[in-house]
Amino acid sequence: MMEQGNDCERILFTAEDIAAQVKKAAAWLDERFEGTVPLAVSVLKGSVIFFCDLVRAMKTPVQMDFMTLSSYGSGSSSSGMPKIVMDLSAPVEGRDVLLVEDIVDSGHTLVKLKELLGGRGAKSFTVVSLLDKPSRREVDVKADYSCFTVGNEFIVGYGLDYAQRYRNLPYIGVLKREIYEK
Ligand code: IMP
Ligand code: MG
Repeated sequence: MMEQGNDCERILFTAEDIAAQVKKAAAWLDERFEGTVPLAVSVLKGSVIFFCDLVRAMKTPVQMDFMTLSSYGSGSSSSGMPKIVMDLSAPVEGRDVLLVEDIVDSGHTLVKLKELLGGRGAKSFTVVSLLDKPSRREVDVKADYSCFTVGNEFIVGYGLDYAQRYRNLPYIGVLKREIYEK
């Protein structure tokens, strides 16, 4: 059997660490969205595992929608300008939008999403990201709430991939260099 877990140099956050942070994020969101039914948007595919856990930890009723952007190709460095590959099915106008991201790295994806959805007349816009990698930022943007901050390392697991692999690891780890440098 292929043991994808062996490809991590080390584990940063265990499933238990993640569950505790998801609970905190959900409580923060419940307070923020009290009395509303936000449109919760998962940016595929990286955020989907976090998204499913997060919305189930929230008490606020949400509607769910999904969007796919192009970003990295299959490698480990950013290609710059993301485009919409699959759009939302719900209109955003007048909605309280809760955008759920996997990681804010260079920040280009988030800037683009804010521009795209902002132009559709959302009533409010809240961004939650599982991870923040501030050392790599190229544009001045950040999530309203991030569960964890990471250093300048390539992260996989709990939704995050390298070449479409490792998304289903239940923990978050640092990928061995030899894997993306070979
Ligand atoms: P951006 O550079 O902030 O635009 O991030 C673009 C996307 O690249 C993120 O949403 C992730 O899907 C992906 N990404 C950035 N850093 C990592 C990483 O360390 N591991 C896996 N995916 C990453
Ligand atoms: Mg992403």
